[in-house]
Amino acid sequence: MNDPVAAPWWHARRAALIGLLGDRDSAYVYDLATVRAQAGKLVALRSFTRVLYALKANPHAAILEALAGAGLGFECVSRAELERVQEALPGIARERVLFTPNFAPQSEYRWALERGYRVTVDNLQVLRDWAPLFRGREILLRLDAASGRGHHEKVRTGGRHSKFGVPPEEFAELPAAVAAAGARVVGLHAHGGSGNFELETWLEPARVLAARIAAFHPARILNLGGGLGVPDRPGRPQVDLAGLDRALAEFRTANPSLELWLEPGRYLVAEAGVLLARVTQVKGKGERRYVGVATGMNSLIRPALYGAHHEVRNLSRLDEPAIQACTVVGPICESGDELARDCRLPRCGEGDVLLIADAGAYGHAMASHYNLRPPAVELVMPE
Ligand code: LLP
Repeated sequence: MNDPVAAPWWHARRAALIGLLGDRDSAYVYDLATVRAQAGKLVALRSFTRVLYALKANPHAAILEALAGAGLGFECVSRAELERVQEALPGIARERVLFTPNFAPQSEYRWALERGYRVTVDNLQVLRDWAPLFRGREILLRLDAASGRGHHEKVRTGGRHSKFGVPPEEFAELPAAVAAAGARVVGLHAHGGSGNFELETWLEPARVLAARIAAFHPARILNLGGGLGVPDRPGRPQVDLAGLDRALAEFRTANPSLELWLEPGRYLVAEAGVLLARVTQVKGKGERRYVGVATGMNSLIRPALYGAHHEVRNLSRLDEPAIQACTVVGPICESGDELARDCRLPRCGEGDVLLIADAGAYGHAMASHYNLRPPAVELVMPE
């Protein structure tokens, strides 16, 4: 069964959002109640013993606090992300944090291992060449065991043409390399990509990893990765979490000694964040009606990079009919600087506040200072 589709949190908060923006031109705004609600849906799944938040999606400290409070662990991909977790959550138990670097320098592995973090290793060569680092340490192994799946080619992390994971032709060599390094494998990991809705995304790695784990006895964790999609248009179906839980319950009956982990980013925070941006100028050009806003791909690069769709509303004119097909663009000197194409908006005027929805994941986290324009600041909705 799908979750009931509720109206987005910001529908009823128009005045509060405009008030919070104040005299700024743009801002990200995060709603922590939405973060907690999403976390609650995953924590309620009986199949998973641990849910880790992939904080690359949004490492804002208030979000980390909310998710820690909901009982989640954290998956980090850089030393700076580990340090962010330490700063935001001093005293958090090391076993709630996982480090999953990819092509990172040896110094980052050493830093994390010396501090007692579990590291996911995804390269046989690393185990061999840096063997002394791993002596006596608990590690996970990331196998290229899930098909590449995702909302765009650039976010498919499984399969032959992605740089992630130990390739299948090297699986057989792993047990000897682990033994030679003196490491203790506690689990296996696979992550196929981002923005997925088919349950095979998590069922396939469960099967493939389960078939491999005996070689690493007594390892018992299967980390099935993240990648849970969030519908990008109203009314589109959600991930069938109850169906996933049922299918994995069967899997666990067949494999009672194994525990399953999930490590989503987007699912937890995408809907909790909106990008507010003031209209700067409007322009008609040929077929197109351009609505310019004060920040663009320097704040939210997903539309430019992946052609990702984000719903846009004019908060200042929420009650007026959406009569014009508009292309919403930022002030960056690239023709790809579009936040939305052909979205229907009321007639917009300078100073109106546009809301770009579902911008809490991979929004500010991927922002840049391109054109020396600072990205939108981050604000938290008062509770
Ligand atoms: N685990 C691993 C090992 C990952 O590489 C990722 C994402 C996740 C978990 C979390 O995936 P999520 O649940 O957020 O889909 N910038 C892209 C997404 C790139 C994701 C990279 N890895 C986007 O904006 O769609």
